[in-house]
Amino acid sequence: MNYRHAFHAGNFADCMKHAMLVWLVRALQHKPAPICVLDTHAGAGSYDLFAGPAERTGEWRAGIGRLLDDPPQPLVEYVGLVWQLGLYPGSPALIRTLLRPDDCLACCELHLEEYTTLRRRFADDAAVAVHRRDAWEALGALLPLQPRRGLVLIDPPYEAPDEFDRLAKGLTTGWTRFRTGVFAAWYPIKHRAPVRAFFAAVWQAGIRDIVAAELLLREPLDPARLNGCGMLVINPPYRFETDTMPILEALLDRLGAREPGEGAEMIRLADE
Ligand SMILES: C[S@@+](CC[C@H](N)C(=O)[O-])C[C@H]1O[C@@H](n2cnc3c(N)ncnc32)[C@H](O)[C@@H]1O
Repeated sequence: MNYRHAFHAGNFADCMKHAMLVWLVRALQHKPAPICVLDTHAGAGSYDLFAGPAERTGEWRAGIGRLLDDPPQPLVEYVGLVWQLGLYPGSPALIRTLLRPDDCLACCELHLEEYTTLRRRFADDAAVAVHRRDAWEALGALLPLQPRRGLVLIDPPYEAPDEFDRLAKGLTTGWTRFRTGVFAAWYPIKHRAPVRAFFAAVWQAGIRDIVAAELLLREPLDPARLNGCGMLVINPPYRFETDTMPILEALLDRLGAREPGEGAEMIRLADE
């Protein structure tokens, strides 16, 4: 467990993940019934971009740093939340801000320091549960969510070589236990082969109604670089493809460097 999200907070991949996350939570809230969100790899909850690891890598400058002033319309709500919460909020902070009075959030985080920071943040908050618990085990133990309408965000660090395999197995376990849930799994695109194998594993597991939204900054040819990222969504809410494509396009317009192969795509992997 060497991964620390602070090195990457606010980079283009975080912007993509968090802008999509805001849309997904809002979409689930179109109906008045309460929802619950499970954030399986929650992180510390917030990151200081002007000190320590984030300042050293400076990745955020090519990400949220290019969106803060005059954000394009599809990113207005996400960037507004970032300003409101401070540079830079993690997924649990963003989700918490969006919850309505009867909604709830459960977070899992294994790293002791990140867990302790997150737990402190929500110590007096009855709407949020913070567990020091393995994400893959939690997908078996904590699903289905109560109330049964909900979102499961899965955002692993991909430091282990078999992380895509674990993700495919975790999605299968989670979906088997919670078939009506919306699952959103973020993944890196360094090169195509591991992503194709991941899609095949999810499809072969028999999971239905899957769309992958992808943002590529360049052709994914150099496996040593993060060339793009994707969000695989099971049971995507109504209008997911049409409403979130403008988010991807706006990100590309601001964060892309017009390199060969850049683009945004919606890939339907399995029908309903
Ligand atoms: C990419 S970061 C999460 C970032 C966070 N979701 C956000 O958007 O702000 C991945 C996190 O998962 C934690 N982690 C790694 N393996 C885990 C596991 N098996 N179960 C729970 N947490 C894990 C890491 O410590 C790290 O904080």
